[in-house]
Amino acid sequence: MTMDTIPLFHNKNIILGVCGGIAAYKIAELASKLTQAGALVDVILTESATKFVGPVTFAAVSGRSALTDADLWRHDQHVPHVQLGEKADLLIIAPATANTLAKLAHGQADNLLSVTALAARGPIILVPAMDGGMWSNAATQANVAILRERGFHILGPALGRMASGLIGEGRMVEPAEMLGYARVVLGAKGQLAKRKIVVSAGGTQEAIDPVRFIGNRSSGKQGFAIAQAAIDRGAAVTLIVGAATLPTPYGAKRIDVETAQQMCEAVLAACRDADALIMAAAVADFQAAQLAAHKIKKTQDTVDFAIQLTRTPDILQAVKDQKEAIGKPPITIGFAAETQNLIENATAKLTRKGLDLIVANDVAAADAGFAVDTNRVTFIGAGGGVEPLALMSKAQVAERVLDRLIKLLG
Ligand code: PMT
Repeated sequence: MTMDTIPLFHNKNIILGVCGGIAAYKIAELASKLTQAGALVDVILTESATKFVGPVTFAAVSGRSALTDADLWRHDQHVPHVQLGEKADLLIIAPATANTLAKLAHGQADNLLSVTALAARGPIILVPAMDGGMWSNAATQANVAILRERGFHILGPALGRMASGLIGEGRMVEPAEMLGYARVVLGAKGQLAKRKIVVSAGGTQEAIDPVRFIGNRSSGKQGFAIAQAAIDRGAAVTLIVGAATLPTPYGAKRIDVETAQQMCEAVLAACRDADALIMAAAVADFQAAQLAAHKIKKTQDTVDFAIQLTRTPDILQAVKDQKEAIGKPPITIGFAAETQNLIENATAKLTRKGLDLIVANDVAAADAGFAVDTNRVTFIGAGGGVEPLALMSKAQVAERVLDRLIKLLG
C-alpha cells in the first residue's frame, strides 16, 4: 500500500454508474480518488452519459476499462453485468438522473447500468442531479420514496445553481462528499460498529484580552485522522475540536470549542455514553488569571509586561474521576507531546491520568508532531509494554491507534 491508500477501500470492488447529466464530468475525479485510495473501480456509462463524457476519460483514471451498453452484448464474457453486480462491494450512481431513478424504482432493466444494479448484492448509493422542477416532481419523489424504502442510500441533491441557471434543489453533491459518504456506508459493519468513540483534536485557545490568546501549533490533523479512521471502522464518532480549520469527516458529530474549560465540559458530556475517548487535542495547561475586558495597551514606557497565569482543568484527570464514578468511558487513550525524556514523561502521564494507553509523541522532530502530515509515535500500555512505531502518515498512525483500541475493547 502507498501512503495514499485507505485500508477501507483496499481491493474493494466499486462500480461507478454514470448517467447523462452535465455533472457527469465530475465523476472522473471520484473515480480517480477511489482508485488512488486502493479500490478497483469499474465505471458503467449510460448511453446519454457518453454524450457528456467518454469512457476513455474513466479508463485513464481508473486503469480499468469503462463499460457502455455495447458491453452488455459482448460474446467473450458470460453475463458480465451479473458478475459485475454480484462481486461489487459498493455501487455508486452519480449523477443519478430522474430517468435512472425511475428505472431502478420499477425494476426496469434495459441498459447495462440498470441490469447491473438489479444484480447487485452490496449497498447502492444514488446521487441525484437534475433540474429542481424534475426533482420536486411528484413522480420523482414517489420513486425516491420507493428506493429509500428498499434500502438504497440517497445522497443529496444539494441546493444551489443548476445547469439551467436556476437556483434550487437538484445540484449534485461534490465528489469529496460522495467519498466521505461512501466511507460511512462501506465501514458500517466494521470492527467498531455500534461503538461510540469520542475524539478530541486541535489546540485550545485561552483568551488574554478581546484580541489575544494563548494557543499552540496543533492543526488537528492527527485527531481528525483518528476520527475518520474510526468512522471507516463503523464507529459513531463525536469529534471535539479546538482551533482547527479542517473539513469534518463525513458522519462525525463535530463540537467546536475554544478553551480548555469548554473542551473539558464537552468531553465529559460526550463520554457519558461512550465506549472510548482518544485525547489527541493539545490542551493549554495555563490560562490568564484575569481576562482583560479591553485590549491591553502598551504605553511609551512599557518595557516589561507580565501576565499572571493559572492552571486550566486537566481534562483527562476529570475523565478519570468520571470513569471511577459512572464507569464511562471504559477506555481512555491519551497523547503525550514531549521534547525530552519521551518515555519517562509519557509513562508518568499514563499513570497519573489513569490511561489505558498513551501515544508518546516526540514533537521536537521536524517530521513529527504539530502541523505536519507525518508522525513518529511510541505506544505505552497501562500493563507495561513499549512499542515504538516508524515514521508514518498521521492516517497510518490513526489506524494503529485503532488497532490497539479494538484490542482494549476486547
Ligand atoms: O494537531 P496536529 O498538528 O496533528 O498535532 C498532533 C499533536 C502533536 C497535537 C498530537 O499528536 C498530540 O501529541 N497531542 C497531545 C498534546 C498535548 O497536549 O500533550 P500533553 O503532553 O501536554 O498532554 C498529555 C495528555 O493530556 C494529552 O492527551 C492532552 O490532550 C491531555 N491534557 C492536557 C492538558 C490538559 N489540561 N488536559 C488534558 O487532558
